[in-house]
Amino acid sequence: MKFRRSVVVLAVGLTALLGAQTGAAGATVPPLRDSAKPPGGTAVPPDSLRALASKVGLRIGTAVNTDALATNAKYRQITADQFSTVTPENVMKWQVVEPTKGAYDWSAADQLVKFAKANGQLVRGHTLVWQNQLPTWLTAGNYTSTQLRHLLRKHITDEVTHFRGHIWQWDVVNEAFNDDGTMRDTIWLRAMGPSYIADAFRWAHQADPRALLFYNDYNIEGMGAKSDAVYLLAKQLRAQGVPINGIGAQGHLDTKYGFPNQMRQNLQRFADLGLKVALTEVDVRTTVPVTTPEQLAQNADYSQMLEACLLVRACISYTVWGFGDAFSWVPGVFAGEGSADIYDENLQPKASYFALQQTLMLASGAPHR
Ligand code: XIL
Repeated sequence: MKFRRSVVVLAVGLTALLGAQTGAAGATVPPLRDSAKPPGGTAVPPDSLRALASKVGLRIGTAVNTDALATNAKYRQITADQFSTVTPENVMKWQVVEPTKGAYDWSAADQLVKFAKANGQLVRGHTLVWQNQLPTWLTAGNYTSTQLRHLLRKHITDEVTHFRGHIWQWDVVNEAFNDDGTMRDTIWLRAMGPSYIADAFRWAHQADPRALLFYNDYNIEGMGAKSDAVYLLAKQLRAQGVPINGIGAQGHLDTKYGFPNQMRQNLQRFADLGLKVALTEVDVRTTVPVTTPEQLAQNADYSQMLEACLLVRACISYTVWGFGDAFSWVPGVFAGEGSADIYDENLQPKASYFALQQTLMLASGAPHR
């Protein structure tokens, strides 16, 4: 009861605040409206997340497990009905697209792009520069710094060129900072120094000038040492004319840490630099089995992240990192935790799904982004 009332109060404030921002500086890209009706396909349910979000010009996305998409009809149906963008959970990562040096395998990613087209969805490309899920030939190759620079340039150029015209937002650089705001010690920092980030954005832009290029990281949802560091980076890149268009806050929360500090203000300061922002990998893990207070905290975290996004006009998409607990990455990585997604193990919507749905319903009078 208490929770419901607070949602309504927040939503009223939300609409008022959004209304006050109607005259804010225009977007650099044309607004992308989700028609909520895939070309040639059947109409999506009017109370789906994507249909409700389309009323305010917000895209709702999910990471997609392409194995489940190929084999599970219910998974496929929910992906098409509820979401207006998709992110490949793994199949655009370097390890998958170039398992053997020089031999590309785009097949799984191409399938997902095709699915997105058929269902009137946009694609978030994920991810070009990262320290994880690299092919062994690369990590064990004993390459010199100069060779690594050339390999990275070729990787970015080839991948962005392959998908040119089909990607709405690219996560160009992923997770380059530590939680204390220092730069993460990676193969790329060692080979090229901090300028690898600017180079990556320039190379990606050359290969597809129309894709929106994002820096993406976790623990940058709220104010703190890490988001300060990313803010400084973004400001410097903008000042240098580096083609960066947005900041992605992953949004992997855990009920034991509470809600990020001043999330709306934090997203807004990035927007004030002239950047788009996005929630790119939202999930809310907790200890299992889940207690009632933990479940209420999950619902609140999901909807408060959405509210923070709705309140910032530059926030153009809100993506969950998968939607079904049976496919979640959480249990495999965080011992004793799980239940992080908005659908249960049987692909039934959970209370956190309805929390998002209700937040979107209450925000439907807000202006388009
Ligand atoms: C995860 C996937 O969900 C897992 O299936 C895979 O085994 C490891 O990577 N941050 C990111 C994502 O940017 O790419 C990660 O995805 C989760 C954390």
